[in-house]
Amino acid sequence: LELTQEEQFQARIDADVRIEPKDWMPDAYRKTLIRQISQHAHSELVGMLPEGNWITRAPSLKRKSILLSKVQDEAGHGLYLYSAAETLGASRDQMLADLHSGKAKYSSIFNYPTLSWADMGTVGWLVDGAAILNQVPLCRTSYGPYARAMVRVCKEESFHQRQGFEIMQTLCEGAPEQKAMAQEALNRWWWPTLMMFGPKDADSPNTAQSMNWRIKRFTNDELRQKFVDMMVPQAEFLGLTVPDPNLKWNEAKSGYDFGEVDWEEFWNVVKGNGMCNKDRLGARVKAHEEGAWVREAALAHAAKRKQRTEQ
Ligand code: ACO
Repeated sequence: LELTQEEQFQARIDADVRIEPKDWMPDAYRKTLIRQISQHAHSELVGMLPEGNWITRAPSLKRKSILLSKVQDEAGHGLYLYSAAETLGASRDQMLADLHSGKAKYSSIFNYPTLSWADMGTVGWLVDGAAILNQVPLCRTSYGPYARAMVRVCKEESFHQRQGFEIMQTLCEGAPEQKAMAQEALNRWWWPTLMMFGPKDADSPNTAQSMNWRIKRFTNDELRQKFVDMMVPQAEFLGLTVPDPNLKWNEAKSGYDFGEVDWEEFWNVVKGNGMCNKDRLGARVKAHEEGAWVREAALAHAAKRKQRTEQ
């Protein structure tokens, strides 16, 4: 029995053989990966902005240097991810152009404002916590370069999460005003963080095929459930209240039942109408334009070096 190219490909996926850049792959597999990896890269880049806002306002030199390195790590994550997308034939200039024109998506979470220092704790604890849950399984994603990039990203991401939790712990053990600040930040970030996992499985056009190709190892709802189950005890440990009146332990499923995400808000943010979408894109475009001289200088330097070695 002769297998078609597509059947051979699926057989390799089913046997957990990694797909590498020069291997044959269906066009739709390539497209899905370029879509997901480039969106992921954009999220890392835009994700620098809400925290960048607090570098100059961090409460101590120590906090400032930690935050500065965390934001630099995120730039690095973006670069690994763009490189992984390039191995599929995507052009970095085109990916960036699509981000800057508003055509490409990036994570909804980064369109919310960071209003207090406690937001730095909450972003590290909740947002990076959600990112890790989503990304640890991606270390086993079927496309080799993406999976390998995720290994280092996850190591750095777990450090980010710990530092966020430590900020929260410091605030929660501090003055009543500090604890109130931590609670207020949790109230604002809880629901947007649940949205990071994407639409419900029933409304997710890409999940079934991506699971079949082992690009995704868990569905959006599975990861959201894991997240709630992981975070509720941590909030209790901190003495904070999760802002969900429907949150309740369900012994039968050995997990929490929780309230419904406001999906209208989610799609509104994804479509570009969230609180900070315009600010974030504006800041990105400005940084790109102001960095033009660096790219030109790097190209001129490379050309000179090439000329020198050819002589
Ligand atoms: N924000 C913005 N867009 C989203 C979000 C979100 N939180 N969740 C889903 N979407 C988009 C999807 O990109 C998709 O859009 P498209 O088809 O136009 O490309 C659409 O909504 C429908 O969603 P799904 O069918 O569920 O899409 P998918 O299977 O790609 O699942 C998910 C979405 C879970 C985000 C997946 O792409 C993924 O795991 N990506 C890698 C991780 C990542 O990007 N993390 C970024 C945030 S973490 C960080 O950067 C620190």
